[in-house]
Amino acid sequence: VRRFVIVGQKATASSDFLLDDVPGTSGRLDVLVRCVRAALLASHGVRRDTVVYLVLLGGPRAPRVVRVLGKDVQFLRPDERSLAVLFKKVLASHEDEARDPAAPFAEVRPGISVARGGIEVVVNDCNDARVFVLDEGGTDMRDEADLDTDDLLFVIGDHLGLTDDVVGALAARAPRRIRVGPTSIHADDVVAVVVNEVDRRRCR
Ligand SMILES: C[S@@+](CC[C@H](N)C(=O)[O-])C[C@H]1O[C@@H](n2cnc3c(N)ncnc32)[C@H](O)[C@@H]1O
Repeated sequence: VRRFVIVGQKATASSDFLLDDVPGTSGRLDVLVRCVRAALLASHGVRRDTVVYLVLLGGPRAPRVVRVLGKDVQFLRPDERSLAVLFKKVLASHEDEARDPAAPFAEVRPGISVARGGIEVVVNDCNDARVFVLDEGGTDMRDEADLDTDDLLFVIGDHLGLTDDVVGALAARAPRRIRVGPTSIHADDVVAVVVNEVDRRRCR
């Protein structure tokens, strides 16, 4: 399984944003939506072995986590507006509010669930995954032998980067810091490069 976690420091956890101006009204949820496309959609369908978590730390209902399971999700379209419409509907749900903290995810669309909480919810949801923090100052991902293992979790920041709080919450999982190249690039491009590296290793 490949898991991607994108942390939106200001990305809204509520449905209170305008579809005609997602970048300007959602705390840059558009960045996260593009990451969903890059992680889950190949040119002819969904990558069933992939899970995406969006950690939403902005707006009145924060913190919340949206989880998209590639094995179950349906009707995922590649264009940004359709994805924003889908996430607006998911974020309007209140089904996560009454959940037991031991099982926080409430499924609101096939394969798409929402939970109250932040990065700790993600950590608890993937106990056995090898954790990698995507960091421009990390070691070159091509030198990273652990990428050949089967249960991988990649943590990526938004346009503001990753905070010490988020990185600290991962400490018990002994994360590896890796870089995809020498230039700081957009989060969705980071996802695409990582997906490609894992694809290449799998067919070796
Ligand atoms: C647009 S970058 C963040 C830039 C932000 N201004 C900062 O200083 O952190 C978004 C995220 O992509 C990841 N990233 C960007 N370039 C990378 C690279 N070359 N290697 C690894 N991760 C990278 C990091 O996780 C970063 O938090």
